[in-house]
Amino acid sequence: MMFGRRDVLRMATAAGLGSALPGGGLAAATDAGIEELRARVTPFRLLPDDYPMTEIWGYGPTAPGPEIRVRQGDRVARRFVNDLPQGSSIHWHGIRIANGMDGVSGLTQEPVAPGMRFDYDFEAPDAGTYWYHAHNRSWEQVARGLHGALIVEEATPPDVDREEVMVLGDWLLNPETGQIDDNFDHPMMMSHGGRIGNYITVNGRSDLTLPARRHERLRLRLINASNARIFPLTLPGLAGWVVALDGMPLDAPEPIGDVLVLGPAQRADLIVDVVADAGGQAGLDQVEEDGDYFLAAFDVTGTAAQTRRGTPAPLPPNPNTGLPDLSAATPLRLVMAGGAMGRMQSAVLNGTRMGFRELIAEGRFWALNDMAAMTDTPLAELGLGEPVRLEIVNETVFPHAMHLHGMHFREVTADGALGPLRDTLLVGGQETREIAFTADNPGDWLFHCHMLSHAASGMTTWLRVT
Ligand code: C2O
Ligand code: CU
Repeated sequence: MMFGRRDVLRMATAAGLGSALPGGGLAAATDAGIEELRARVTPFRLLPDDYPMTEIWGYGPTAPGPEIRVRQGDRVARRFVNDLPQGSSIHWHGIRIANGMDGVSGLTQEPVAPGMRFDYDFEAPDAGTYWYHAHNRSWEQVARGLHGALIVEEATPPDVDREEVMVLGDWLLNPETGQIDDNFDHPMMMSHGGRIGNYITVNGRSDLTLPARRHERLRLRLINASNARIFPLTLPGLAGWVVALDGMPLDAPEPIGDVLVLGPAQRADLIVDVVADAGGQAGLDQVEEDGDYFLAAFDVTGTAAQTRRGTPAPLPPNPNTGLPDLSAATPLRLVMAGGAMGRMQSAVLNGTRMGFRELIAEGRFWALNDMAAMTDTPLAELGLGEPVRLEIVNETVFPHAMHLHGMHFREVTADGALGPLRDTLLVGGQETREIAFTADNPGDWLFHCHMLSHAASGMTTWLRVT
């Protein structure tokens, strides 16, 4: 069930909506030199006005948190201050980053304890649309609101009239109280498609409406910040091209197909023209079985130009466009097993082989190469500069959004060609796909499913590059 615009009424009739919540959100004390990103418990106006505020965990008073925007090649420096009741760390998703700044609790740093801080400082070598999010107990912390957009601007931006960053959020709320459902370890969610919400927002709102004019050209930066929801999207009243995926420019703009699919953690940069007439319908919709579900609207008034412009130029390429050498590539294989209906008999947890029932009792529903949890041994130890091809065999019946930290990969397509650079690949149920990359960033890099409850219950591994 989803309650958004059309189901909010259902919530309105539910009895027992509580009163206002106690405030969190301590004021940020600034410190000379470095900007602060303070995580705190805070009430947030997530539901419409006649509902109670929702207590979220935010990087500031809102979710998504503040947009971070720099120019390509600039440094991003933020002092993370943890006012949460839990340890945390920040991961800068999609950035080719120095390993020590990758923000993975338990791999690249210890979680920052409540009341403590950590200074992140890194270069943003590639222009594009990225995001940042908590990376300790991420299946809980991201779901509570700890995520935001990270935009790295091209030196020469594309020729558009305006740009809009659209962070897609998927909240699982208690319909009685309007508060975040805190059963984060629900076995049903872990073993099926992940934590799917019932309240979808764009930039923290269920009714986002943006102004537009006919024939105006917009750059849309779409970010799927949800825990597990795959968004099949349509753009009524808009027409245009995909110009980048996961921040990385496509060699040539590609016309947006009938449905644009955005898996968890994936991004798409679009250049679209408003083709709706003034007063007409334009927006971002999610395709559902029973029709299209409104996510955000463009309110079209007036006309920007008499005619549409032609195909836009591609975005300028980033410096990492070299192709991995497939003929010399080290072959790796990752078999994903488990989940409901997955017939996983057993897997290894903490050095012990366990049957499926035992694994479930330990909160383990999945395995990667027979391992139901991350081990001290990486999936592979790679030499710096080593080309790799990694076959991903999904024996489960669920899709998984596989994300590699620290480096970008290309999909090896059936005909042996290389697809666009990405950092997150949506692998369908019982599908086998292959990616290739050059291990050109030293350090320990996580490779995991971005359906975050899957990552928490078996779908996390890592690579070492030295
Ligand atoms: Cu966006 Cu390991 O995560
Ligand atoms: Cu998964």
